Amino acid sequence: MYVLDPQYGMHVWPCAVVLAQYVWFHRRLVFEKTILELGAGVSLPGIVAARCGAEIILSDNAALPQCLDNCHRSCQMNNLSGVLVTGLTWGQISPALLALPPVDIILASDVFFEPEDFEDVISTVHYLMEKNPCSQFWTTHQVRSADWSVQGLLYKWEMESIFVPLQSFEANKEQLADSPLPGRHTIEMMVITKVTM
Ligand SMILES: C[S@@+](CC[C@H](N)C(=O)[O-])C[C@H]1O[C@@H](n2cnc3c(N)ncnc32)[C@H](O)[C@@H]1O
Repeated sequence: MYVLDPQYGMHVWPCAVVLAQYVWFHRRLVFEKTILELGAGVSLPGIVAARCGAEIILSDNAALPQCLDNCHRSCQMNNLSGVLVTGLTWGQISPALLALPPVDIILASDVFFEPEDFEDVISTVHYLMEKNPCSQFWTTHQVRSADWSVQGLLYKWEMESIFVPLQSFEANKEQLADSPLPGRHTIEMMVITKVTM
């Protein structure tokens, strides 16, 4: 699938394929868990999680109804009914964020693409981890600049990360699950948790 619309959320990004592979590889960990996807767009990782038995909530920018429609359409095409799709704009404490049920895992693929948004993403995850202290944030990002890093922000927001080698979940390939999208992009996978004192 390639660009259908200039909106970022109307395209399956290479990071989504890698995160979906991580979810599939760890499908026993997601079974019967409640999983929230941030910046979901076409929602591939969330849909795979649902297929693996998770209760999923899909979210995208509250100001981009086309992206939220896309989340709905992905559910319909995959015969998933009753999935909560909600507008969550990073960095905003909104009624939709406050109304979320407890979550076990937060997913996000390719949400670290605009450095000015990095802290908004992290602050939203921080809010969710304060409410759900045992939750984990599973995220993939594409290395677009050697200067970009979220490590300082994770330290500031009292979170820690583990970089998961792609080969550990068989994602160190240019083609993954019949998709050429990972291609020659450099993609990294992190599991982020709240620092425990
Ligand atoms: C690069 S796309 C990645 C989409 C999808 N996760 C994937 O990997 O295929 C970034 C996504 O973040 C969403 N997004 C951008 N800014 C946002 C914001 N401020 N709050 C919430 N979502 C946002 C976009 O609508 C888009 O769906």
